[in-house]
Amino acid sequence: VGTLSEADLKGKKVFLRADLNVPLDDSQKITDDTRIRASVPTIKFLMEKGAKVILASHLGRPKGVTPKYSLKPLVPRLSELLGVNVVMANDCIGEEVQKLAASLPDGGVLLLENIRFYKEEEKNDPEFAKKLASVADLYVNDAFGTAHRAHASTEGVTKYLKPAVAGFLMQKELDYLVGAVANPKKPFAAIVGGSKVSTKIGVIESLLAKGHAVGKSLVEEDKLELATSLIEKAKSKGVSLLLPTDVVVADKFEANAESKIVPASSIPDGWMGLDIGPDSIKTFSETLDTTKTVIWNGPMGVFEFEKFAAGTDAIAKKLADITAKGATTIIGGGDSVAAVEKAGLADKMSHISTGGGASLELLEGKTLPGVLALDDA
Ligand code: 3PG
Repeated sequence: VGTLSEADLKGKKVFLRADLNVPLDDSQKITDDTRIRASVPTIKFLMEKGAKVILASHLGRPKGVTPKYSLKPLVPRLSELLGVNVVMANDCIGEEVQKLAASLPDGGVLLLENIRFYKEEEKNDPEFAKKLASVADLYVNDAFGTAHRAHASTEGVTKYLKPAVAGFLMQKELDYLVGAVANPKKPFAAIVGGSKVSTKIGVIESLLAKGHAVGKSLVEEDKLELATSLIEKAKSKGVSLLLPTDVVVADKFEANAESKIVPASSIPDGWMGLDIGPDSIKTFSETLDTTKTVIWNGPMGVFEFEKFAAGTDAIAKKLADITAKGATTIIGGGDSVAAVEKAGLADKMSHISTGGGASLELLEGKTLPGVLALDDA
C-alpha cells in the first residue's frame, strides 16, 4: 500500500482531514494556533506537489449550524502560514463546494466550513461520507487529534475515496506515541497526573501490563481500590510506582488561596492538594534524571494558579534538561501541553502531541478508528 510520499498528486483533488479545532476567544481570535501550525507540513507538501487541497475540520462541538463555531476566523492565519489566499466555502458539501473545488488551481487550498454543522458527521452517516468524498480524488487524514472518533470525515469517507493515507502529522504522532510504548529506550517513565483520574487509570494499567515504569497517579475516592491494586501490580512486575510524598494543600480552589505543605498521607480536613510538594519534586526529578524515554500526561497540580505551578514547572524543566542530554520526551496532549507552553519549554521537548483524547486512547492500548481505516494503517 502506498503512503502519502508515494501518492500521485499532480492536479489531483485531495480531501485533507485535519484537526484545526483551535481555541477561539469571545472576539473569535485564535488563542493557540499549535494545531494549525502542526497541519502546515502536509498542506505545503500537497501544494508543492501540485495537488488541489480541500481542507476539512471540525471546530468545537456545535449543535447544528452555529456561527460561533465557523472556521472562517482561521482563514487569515492559514493563508499567512501557507503563503496563498486560502478560499473559504460556506458549507462542507453541496454545489458551491463542488464549484470552488473545480476552479481551484494546482497548489490551491479550499477550506470547507465546520463539518460538525451536520449531525451526520458524528453519526458517521454513509450518505454524508459519500457526499464529502464526491468532491475529491483521494483522501489524506492528518487529524491525529480526532483519530479516536469514528466519524464520517475520519472513518466513513475512507470507504468512498481511495487511496486513503495518513498525513505527516499523523505519521509523526504515531511514530512517537506508539513507538515509545512498544519499544522505548529504557529506563522508561510515564508521568501521569491531572484532574481527570478516571481517564488516566487505563493508561497506567496498559503501561503496567507492558511492564514499563509508571510515574504517579492522582486518586479519586471511588478509584482507591483500583489504585491499590495497581500499586500491587506494579510491585509484582518490578516497576517502581512513585506517588507524591508531600503535597501543597489549599483551603480553597482559588489562585490566592491560603496554602501549606503537608505529608501526602495527612491532608487536613477541608484542605485540598493543589500541587506536589518539594520532597516529591526532588524524588521525581532525581528519578527522571536517569530515564531515556518519558511520556507525560497530566500536570502535577493546578499550574494555572502561579502558587500551585511549582511542581508542574519543575517537571517541565527537568524534561527539557534530559531532552538536551538525549532522552526522548513526549508530551501527551491536553493540559500537559498547555503547561509546557506556559513554561516556555515547548520547543525543548522531543514531541508535543496535538491530541488529547486520541493520545490517551493510544496509550491505553486502544486502536484508533481514524487510523485503522487508512490504507497504510
Ligand atoms: C480534541 O480537541 O481533542 C479533538 O479535536 C477532538 O474533539 P472532540 O473531543 O470534540 O471530538
